Amino acid sequence: MAALFSPFSIKDITLRNRIAVPPMCQYSAIEGVTTEWHDVHYASLARGGAGLVIVEATAVSPEGRITPACTGLWNDTQAQGMARIAASIKRAGAVPGIQIGHAGWKGSANRPWDGDDHIPNSDARGWQTLSPSAIAFGGKLDKVPTEMTLDDIARVKADFVAAAVRARDAGFEWLELHFAHGYLAQSFFSVHANQRTDQYGGDAQGRGRFLIETLHAVRAVWPERLPLTARFGVIEFDGRDEETLAEAIDLVSRMKQDGLDLLNVSMGFSTIQASVPWSSGFMAPIAARVREGAGIAVATAWGMDEPAEANRAIEASQLDLAMMGRAHLADPHYPFRAARELQVAKSSTLLPEQYAYWLARYPGPQNGEPVE
Ligand code: NDP
Ligand code: FNR
Repeated sequence: MAALFSPFSIKDITLRNRIAVPPMCQYSAIEGVTTEWHDVHYASLARGGAGLVIVEATAVSPEGRITPACTGLWNDTQAQGMARIAASIKRAGAVPGIQIGHAGWKGSANRPWDGDDHIPNSDARGWQTLSPSAIAFGGKLDKVPTEMTLDDIARVKADFVAAAVRARDAGFEWLELHFAHGYLAQSFFSVHANQRTDQYGGDAQGRGRFLIETLHAVRAVWPERLPLTARFGVIEFDGRDEETLAEAIDLVSRMKQDGLDLLNVSMGFSTIQASVPWSSGFMAPIAARVREGAGIAVATAWGMDEPAEANRAIEASQLDLAMMGRAHLADPHYPFRAARELQVAKSSTLLPEQYAYWLARYPGPQNGEPVE
């Protein structure tokens, strides 16, 4: 059995294999409510055979959205749409997960294909953004955010808790806190965004406080039997990498003590000055350092979609889960194809019976080849 296709158990949840679909914004919601696009998209992904499907970055409040077309979980109508999606993912044999987050200084933006730039406050679609400090991200995201007061911080933490409760009640079995990619939580940790002089800034302990307190508050409402995870940027590729990584590993160790079950290891994306060494699977060795240093289960994405390479990373205990994002956009049945490539027995059983029967019975012109 290829390691990539071995089951993975954490808390009371077992994934059928080690392939996860990471959260991917679809920018197709209306007032934060999912649409038919999301229903079809997530059901298709789950039917492709992944062990875990994590629903896209879902905002805990209206101003927590990246764009006006992002999903939200701040009201019951939004939760009803999400409940339908969680049920369809589960029905297809995958574990339903969701990422909740707040966009902070990167919010109030146009969709990527509409420019990816800030929507000004003078436009009714836009809003004033929040951040640890009143510093603009830069580039196309040039709006100066409002520095958060202690009341703002308390309110956003409460919004995370309320969204976690809605996610729990909607039937999600895996929660991912979005502490990555330069959005609000990551920007508290980032020296590029956080220049506060109070208890939420300064040294790594202060810059980590918002993340720790949010995790702690969410853990109190998220069922103990279900995995509570986070996606966190442990490195910025800004020339300060070893220092950031050491601070991040220390913070992740504290998160683990506070009930974090797994870390989805990612990058900070908190500065336009970053120089990311893009290459296939380049984050796996960094995830392995977090796994070793913080003693916690890890996942990572970023070009992990070569099945043999992902399999080796699991086998070598670098990773517990491999996240494949764009590979699933290219082919929602990616896990089935990967299983065939790795010669996993009965690979067709990853698919729904409506498909599996035919692929098992007539596997193709040559054994293991997809049917044309
Ligand atoms: P950008 O998309 O602006 O990317 C920052 C820099 O990284 C750019 O120079 C860009 O190259 C480069 N880059 C980004 N992704 C890749 C890639 N897969 N391969 C090679 N180069 C890449 O940054 P954002 O801060 O908006 O997003 C950060 C990452 O998170 C991106 O990979 C993005 O796709 C992803 N993302 C995250 C979301 C979330 O967390 N909610 C939402 C949507 C996307 P170039 O200048 O050539 O584009
Ligand atoms: C993303 N990514 C992303 N990340 C995240 O944490 N929350 C999100 O909602 C999104 N949204 C998103 C949308 C789209 C269209 C893409 C392509 C990406 C990043 C994503 O989860 C993943 O980390 C990257 O795509 C890199 O992994 P792959 O694609 O190389 O497997």
